[in-house]
Amino acid sequence: MQKLEVFGAKKLKGQINISGSKNASLPILAATLLSKNQITLKNLPNVKDIDTMMSLLDSLGSKIKKVKDKIIINNSRQKKTFASYNLVKTMRAGILVLGPLLAKFGNAKVSLPGGCAIGTRPINIHLDALSKLGVKYKIIQGYVHAYAPKGLIGNKIRFSKISVGATENLIIAASFAKGSTYLNNIAIESEIIDLINFLKNMGCNIKWTGKRSLKIKGVSKVKEITYPVMFDRIEAGTYLIAAAVTEGNLKIKNIVPKIIQTEINILKKIGAKINIKKSEVHIIGNKKIKSINIKTAPYPGFPTDLQAQMMVLLCRANKQSVIKEDIFENRFMHVAELNRMGAQILIKGNKAIVQGNINFAPAELMATDLRASVSLVLAALSAKGKSVINRIYHLDRGYENIEKKLKKVGAKIRRVN
Ligand code: UD1
Repeated sequence: MQKLEVFGAKKLKGQINISGSKNASLPILAATLLSKNQITLKNLPNVKDIDTMMSLLDSLGSKIKKVKDKIIINNSRQKKTFASYNLVKTMRAGILVLGPLLAKFGNAKVSLPGGCAIGTRPINIHLDALSKLGVKYKIIQGYVHAYAPKGLIGNKIRFSKISVGATENLIIAASFAKGSTYLNNIAIESEIIDLINFLKNMGCNIKWTGKRSLKIKGVSKVKEITYPVMFDRIEAGTYLIAAAVTEGNLKIKNIVPKIIQTEINILKKIGAKINIKKSEVHIIGNKKIKSINIKTAPYPGFPTDLQAQMMVLLCRANKQSVIKEDIFENRFMHVAELNRMGAQILIKGNKAIVQGNINFAPAELMATDLRASVSLVLAALSAKGKSVINRIYHLDRGYENIEKKLKKVGAKIRRVN
């Protein structure tokens, strides 16, 4: 099993090019199932979750070709409607094929994604909303058996809770339903805006009717397009925090700064110097880091996917900070490992009380989930000496070339078998 060895504490300096967004690519890949034409996608990140989604599409009968930096997908003969446990278990986003399969064929059998390290992660909101479009379903031996006897029929849907995945599944399904669907209380994460742009480019009829509401008029066919996926805002946020943690000096490139305004504002408040250009953010980390209380929230709030990374930074702050995790019930898996490195973090329900003024000590560490893993890399970058991070397959699910990118800006880091 591969490990990462990190030799801290080096100040990071230079430029990092941000890759395409994993979380935007996944629903867009699922949405290609709607098309009978060729779809060309650009800027997909080279990470394991994207490979898993492509294997899932392949198992459903999609023809996928890699040509240089593009992926060409042809679903003209795609007919299968069975998404197996083996493919969905490793990546929860596998459930995103349910909406498009039901829209295209009126039936699908998709494995339940199951729980994961950060919480139980049910799919009740996806299923309740699909039911409103005329879908009947049963859960049998870990699979959702779903069918729409009369095809999908537009309806008014108000999500009981803001869910990124349920919003995506429903936007895709409603794009091919008969009549109009009104979606209310939707998630408005940038990846959802990217999915909507992609669908509109293909010819889907989607209109905003409010800040968190859409009207989607179903269409029956879509056109051939080429689409570049947006940048990965979580990767960008991670490297901005890496600069702040190491008192570094980094230019984070290939991004749209206004999409990460919340993160930029917080980093400014804690004392980092930030200069914003059209597609770049230049950050200089300050020796003195000011404490701050933050809570995770749906976009445009502070992203839960950056909570672990921010916690590392706040361990180095001048006073105590409190982080409230409002999205996932069990997303503090990194805390035990950070405490092994000398952090003093106390969990009280969904709050983490983070003592400041910590100098991380190097350690042998165990990665537990994607974002927890990268938080350990950040802590190791700031700890003087050698840390070893085990189980880095979690990192490879979502960070393209992480050690190459870090090495280029001066980190001493290497992958060993
Ligand atoms: C997506 C992101 C993930 C991010 C999360 C929140 C992808 C591939 N993953 O995950 O990185 O951390 O958004 O920004 O884009 N919930 C239910 N029932 C449901 C669905 C969700 O109770 O049917 C709950 C979840 O357990 C969680 C909350 O709603 O507590 C938000 O989850 P959701 O927004 O759906 O997250 P994902 O789409 O799974």
